[in-house]
Amino acid sequence: MKIFKLDQSKTLMMFFILILSFTPMSEKAFAGQSMNIDQEKSTVLITGSNRGIGLALAQNYAEQGWNVIATCRKPKKASDLISLREKFSNVNIEELDVTSEEQINALAKKYNGIPIDVLLNNAGILGEVKDQVFGALNDQTFELVFAVNTLAPLKISEAFIENVSMSQQKKIVSMTSGLASMQITANQSYFYFYRMSKAALNMGIVAMNASLKKRGIISALIAPGQVETKMLEESGYRGPNKITPDESAKSLIKIIDSISQEVLTKNGNKAINVDQRVLPW
Ligand SMILES: NC(=O)c1ccc[n+]([C@@H]2O[C@H](COP(=O)([O-])OP(=O)(O)OC[C@H]3O[C@@H](n4cnc5c(N)ncnc54)[C@H](OP(=O)(O)O)[C@@H]3O)[C@@H](O)[C@H]2O)c1
Repeated sequence: MKIFKLDQSKTLMMFFILILSFTPMSEKAFAGQSMNIDQEKSTVLITGSNRGIGLALAQNYAEQGWNVIATCRKPKKASDLISLREKFSNVNIEELDVTSEEQINALAKKYNGIPIDVLLNNAGILGEVKDQVFGALNDQTFELVFAVNTLAPLKISEAFIENVSMSQQKKIVSMTSGLASMQITANQSYFYFYRMSKAALNMGIVAMNASLKKRGIISALIAPGQVETKMLEESGYRGPNKITPDESAKSLIKIIDSISQEVLTKNGNKAINVDQRVLPW
């Protein structure tokens, strides 16, 4: 019996060694991360930063020396963010499904007392395209698209408002789209929910600015252009003027740097597009 036990524990040990050796590098690298914020530097929190525009924003802010709180749904699988953190120690990868109030609150608790200069509501979804055409409008798709694109940016802003309030720059910036503009899309009959969700987001962000400006906080809208990401691929866009996530992120960061209440008043609170144009409502 004793010999059997010894053999069993040896077998178990072998088993764990085998499992560890087959764990992907990225998962091993992720294990044991602790918060790394240099209080001398500015801090940005970006949602949906594992790919697309969010990843490019994280990269560019990290290169400019910012602390980056890079949130994503699956940190262990966020291989590009993990590589970024290997180069820039002030990149903090955090788990956040923007539709989970529990995860939002847990993250806000973890970062309690840490100033956040720019809170960047970037995560978004297009939603199933076939569910957003007249005659086939689908309730579940409607709810999901609105939960991610419209409600989540507001709930995240509520949860981190003290962090933004105690920072130097005090900016909440949310990613909208030209597809939310009634003027631009008057003759387009697709993406009902996506367009509606971003138009509703626009109203929420303007209302939030009215609520927060007396505290010195700016709540503004930006739009990234037609950017070569998974979302643009899903949309089937084949038109001109496509730009890379890096090009979009570089221009958006300049826009975010220059945003002020004066700029918002001058633009009638409308979104600023990546090419500096003010998008019509
Ligand atoms: N690309 C364009 O041409 C374009 C144009 C106008 C506006 N935008 C806006 O720009 C933003 C970024 O879009 P993108 O083009 O970079 O899209 P993307 O490549 O599809 O990336 C979307 C990001 O959002 C994340 N996300 C989706 N649902 C989430 C959830 N429930 N919780 C947390 N994260 C979630 C995704 O994470 P997972 O990997 O986990 O799915 C991913 O990181 C969006 O708000 C989009 O509406 C894009």
